[in-house]
Amino acid sequence: KKVVLAYSGGLDTSVIVRWLQETYNCEVVTFTADLGQGEEVEPARAKAEALGVKEIYIEDLREEFVRDFVFPMFRANAIYEGEYLLGTSIARPLIAKRLIDIANKTGADAISHGATGKGNDQVRFELGAYALKPGVHVIAPWREWDLNSRQKLLDYCEQHDIKVEKKKGKSPYSMDANLLHISYEGEVLEDPWAEAEEDMWRWSVAPEQAPDTPAELTLTYRKGDIVAIDGKEMAAHEVLEYLNKIGGAHGVGRIDIVENRYVGMKSRGCYETPGGTIMLRAHRAIESITLDREVAHLKDSLMPRYAETIYNGYWWSPERKAMQALIDDTQEPVNGDVRLKLYKGNVIVLGRRSDDSLFDEKVATFEDDAGAYDQKDAAGFIKLNALRLRIAASKGRKF
Ligand code: ARG
Ligand code: SIN
Repeated sequence: KKVVLAYSGGLDTSVIVRWLQETYNCEVVTFTADLGQGEEVEPARAKAEALGVKEIYIEDLREEFVRDFVFPMFRANAIYEGEYLLGTSIARPLIAKRLIDIANKTGADAISHGATGKGNDQVRFELGAYALKPGVHVIAPWREWDLNSRQKLLDYCEQHDIKVEKKKGKSPYSMDANLLHISYEGEVLEDPWAEAEEDMWRWSVAPEQAPDTPAELTLTYRKGDIVAIDGKEMAAHEVLEYLNKIGGAHGVGRIDIVENRYVGMKSRGCYETPGGTIMLRAHRAIESITLDREVAHLKDSLMPRYAETIYNGYWWSPERKAMQALIDDTQEPVNGDVRLKLYKGNVIVLGRRSDDSLFDEKVATFEDDAGAYDQKDAAGFIKLNALRLRIAASKGRKF
């Protein structure tokens, strides 16, 4: 028996390695990914070796993550329950895919992860794994063991001779970070009325502390994706890295929400998504001049469904694939530039332009349009649209 574990190198997943070896008497393969979480991944190698792991996979997935997951999602302007930019949700399908790839390569028949039995992440990892390898076995230690507190985990380490480094200044929150966001849950946040402490936030300054001088930048789009900033071509992950830095410095992208988890409970979380917040605003700006109205409204009507599909863990599903095909098709003309200003937590659009623009100054002008638009046509347009209203009213209907 062999199992591939999504391994961070932290306390929880280190305990899981040993627990899997003992409980299932199996060979553990570890997989650690750099998704731009801002922590070194290489130290995971020595830790895994110390636990007797022989097959250790450490991969830099930053470009694949942004290019093939984050960017496609942003083409849809996806946002869950009006606020959440899906930073954790969109990383899970990639991790699931790599777990399965590695299982196939190493001849493992099972995968394992460190998500609890109360959250969304277990669902996302496992739906992905089953979709990509229908016969796979899943081991979710948090649903099986009784090590349900930090102290019990530490005791387990003590008994099993697992070295834990005492990190100074370690945050008490349950956190998850990648190039799209950093999330905080638990601790004081479990009271939805309690305000988050200022020193919880790691990626952004408070808007009050942001510079008095705004930053200006120009984003260039090709087929709905950002390909350059201020005229400089960048790879997908470089775009997000850059926008996170400049957005964070100007206090952009903090949210504090209570969301509905797929498993049924409400959960309070704080998120920093500086680059994503800029991308969402800018993408809408470039779409506003390049998309046909009905196409724009059609994809907008699909958006909540698409966001929920990703939140609930169905990236690897026929419905996500079908929606993606439609969304991607709409992005053909989404080319051009958006000029923005960042100021004390705000993303302000200053201008947009495109060779594929549908904006017609001749038609839209408040000045003389030289016959481009015949205002007399509007009378019939309105009268016919009012026909059913007039008929109903004439028959005494009240609205
Ligand atoms: N509530 C968010 C979501 O479901 C964030 C989850 C964070 N996960 C974590 N393991 N800390 O997408
Ligand atoms: C967890 O329960 O492992 C983290 C939170 C979540 O998955 O929603």
